[in-house]
Amino acid sequence: MSISNSVKICILGCGGFIGSHLTERILLSTDYDVIGIDLVSSKIIHLLENKRFTFIRMNVHDSFALQEYIEECDIVISLVALCNPSLYNTIPIDVIESNFTNPLRLVKACSELNKWLIHFSTCEVYGKTSAFTSGYLPGTEGPDFYLLNEDRSPMILGPVAAQRWSYACAKQLLERLIFAYNFQQGLKYTIVRPFNFIGPRMDYIPGIDGEGIPRVLACFMDSLMSRKKIKLVDGGHNRRCFTYIDDAVDAVMAMLDNPEKAVSQIFNIGNPSNEITISDLAHLMIKIYKELTNNFNDFIIENVSSKDFYGEGYEDSDRRVPDISKAVRLLGWTPRTGLEETLQKTMCAYLDSYRLQIKLAFGESKD
Ligand code: UGA
Repeated sequence: MSISNSVKICILGCGGFIGSHLTERILLSTDYDVIGIDLVSSKIIHLLENKRFTFIRMNVHDSFALQEYIEECDIVISLVALCNPSLYNTIPIDVIESNFTNPLRLVKACSELNKWLIHFSTCEVYGKTSAFTSGYLPGTEGPDFYLLNEDRSPMILGPVAAQRWSYACAKQLLERLIFAYNFQQGLKYTIVRPFNFIGPRMDYIPGIDGEGIPRVLACFMDSLMSRKKIKLVDGGHNRRCFTYIDDAVDAVMAMLDNPEKAVSQIFNIGNPSNEITISDLAHLMIKIYKELTNNFNDFIIENVSSKDFYGEGYEDSDRRVPDISKAVRLLGWTPRTGLEETLQKTMCAYLDSYRLQIKLAFGESKD
């Protein structure tokens, strides 16, 4: 398969965090036409006038019209998902439907219509990462023992009653189905496993443009901007590798540029050098926030139990470090943005978008 200038890409979920950045980059740096489908457009308003972009406002899983759009395109990028951990144990039916049941028709359609499906999965498919799953042996502690490899690492989930794993299980089964469609019917696919992408236009701030508990970056920004306590779940010992969105988009562009290398592959896309405990993240974000706002106030960090914070049925991955050697080897991709720069850029974007609204909603702050 080769990609010519007449390529048309269908992006399902073009209005979300990742979708908005990907749509923007494709329109800016290629000649491809894009059909973007989403229910919301607030993050892509600046793209709506682009002549090579057709925005369709619809629920990708509700309408048979989707089939027509897929038929028109060469490549389908699927990004639609409920992917917020606070939902996994509170509305697990919706989570399983969003991440497994609803996309079934899409996978089948791509297979039947011979389209290249680039599907966004998650690093959560590695499940309950622990000494056991990553082959860690006592006395040999070190990051290598936690390196998660696309083609070798086991993917072990917690018990059914620990509903945190409803999402990981749904995502994992969809990956297995995509793989099976390739095996039995020749579906052209690429699976992307994102590791904590962060950047401008990510999660909402509760009480301003959404309700509930967003992911950790937005929780901490909310606390910083509105002077609330920063909450560390179960002591904040768990670790994450935060990846800057532009680096992540670079990886997808490398896939589009190298279809022969990207097809029939699963790729970890993450930044192993940006690993940090959630507790250290809180302290680093306080430091950066003070620098960005010239704020010398102290912020309070409070420990909370996962049961109180997320409710019954929450469990967590303790550590997940992506082995990105495959993406480096096949795509020539490496992430370039270090943790502090990643946080600075993300936090600046939050401040630009929300500081005024937060002052209006919660009263004057001294920042
Ligand atoms: C989530 C999703 O489940 C994944 O699908 C997705 O790939 C991933 O984010 C991502 O952003 O790529 P997770 O990393 O657990 O997974 O999401 P967060 O909600 O950002 O939580 C990270 C850690 O911070 C967890 O240990 C959580 O308990 C902790 N946390 C969160 C706090 O300590 N305080 C908070 O206020 C919020």
